[in-house]
Amino acid sequence: MTQKNMHVEKSEGIALVTISRPEALNALNIATLLELQELFKAIETDDAVQVVILTGSGTKAFVAGADIAAMQAFSALEARHFAKLGHEVMRTIETCVKPVIAAVNGFALGGGCELALSCDIRLVSDNAKFGQPEVNLGVIPGFGGTQRLARLVGKGRALELIMTGNMIKADEACQIGIANRVVPHDQLLEMAKDMARIIIGKGSYAVRLAKEAVRNGLEMDLDKANQYEAELFSLCFASADQKEGMAAFLEKRPAVFTGQ
Ligand code: CAA
Repeated sequence: MTQKNMHVEKSEGIALVTISRPEALNALNIATLLELQELFKAIETDDAVQVVILTGSGTKAFVAGADIAAMQAFSALEARHFAKLGHEVMRTIETCVKPVIAAVNGFALGGGCELALSCDIRLVSDNAKFGQPEVNLGVIPGFGGTQRLARLVGKGRALELIMTGNMIKADEACQIGIANRVVPHDQLLEMAKDMARIIIGKGSYAVRLAKEAVRNGLEMDLDKANQYEAELFSLCFASADQKEGMAAFLEKRPAVFTGQ
C-alpha cells in the first residue's frame, strides 16, 4: 500500500500514522481521506499492529480541517459525497478493533477536531488548539462534529464552540473533556508511545471488548447497555487471557497475555 499524504511507521506493535500535507497544514482532501480509509481497514487485520497513534506532520498542526481550497467549488451533491466519505472514515477509525490514540500536535480544527474525536484517546501537546470554525466559512461541521462533540462535552459547550467558531487552547480542551491530558510538545510522541506500550501489555482481547462495550453501549439505553456489558464480560471468560490474568494475580506474578 502506498500513501502520498501520510507516513506509516510500525514498530513494537505500534503503527505511528503521520498525516503529511505540510502545504495545507495537513488538511483533509479526498485523496487523504481515501488513504486513511484504506490504511485503517488494513490495520484491522494486521497482526503487526496492536495500537495506532495518529498525528500530524510538523510542529504547527495536527489537521487544520477539511481542505478549504478543494471544497470551495463543490456543488451541494459533491459536498454530500465528501461529507459521507468523511463520515465513513471517522466511523472506520472509531470502530477499528485496535485502540487509536490521537497525538494532537497543534491545530485540530474543523475536520481535524472531528478526526481527533473519532479516536479513542486524545493526548495533546501544550501548543494544541481545538475548534469547529466552520461557521466562519458559512458551513457547519461535516464529519460528525455536531454529533460526537455534543456527545463528548454536552450540548451547551458543543454549541458554544460550533456557533462562535472560537478556538480553545489545550488546557481548556482538557477541562471540558475533549483532551484526555496535556503534555509538553517535545514529549508528545514519546508519551503517546508509552501509553500505547501500557495498553499493549494488557490482554488485547479484553482491551478490544472494552472498546466495543463503551462505544456500542453509549448508543443504547442504560439497561440494554448494562446487559450488553454483562454479555461481553462473560465472553472474556472464554479467553486464555482471563485464565492467565487471574492465575497470575493469585500466583503473585506478572501476567503474560497472548490476546487469545
Ligand atoms: N484547508 C486548506 N488549506 C489550509 C487549511 C485548510 N483547512 N488550513 C490552512 N491551510 C493552508 C493555508 O491556506 C496556507 O496556505 P498558503 O501558504 O498556500 O497560503 C497554509 O495552510 C498555512 O496556513 P496559514 O498561513 O493560514 O497559517 P496561520 O498560522 O496564519 O494560521 C490557521 C493557521 C489558524 C490554522 C489557519 O490556517 C486557519 O484558520 N485554517 C483554516 C481552519 C479551518 O477553517 N478549518 C475548518 C475547515 S472546514 C471543515 O473542516 C469542514 C468539516 O467539518 C468537514
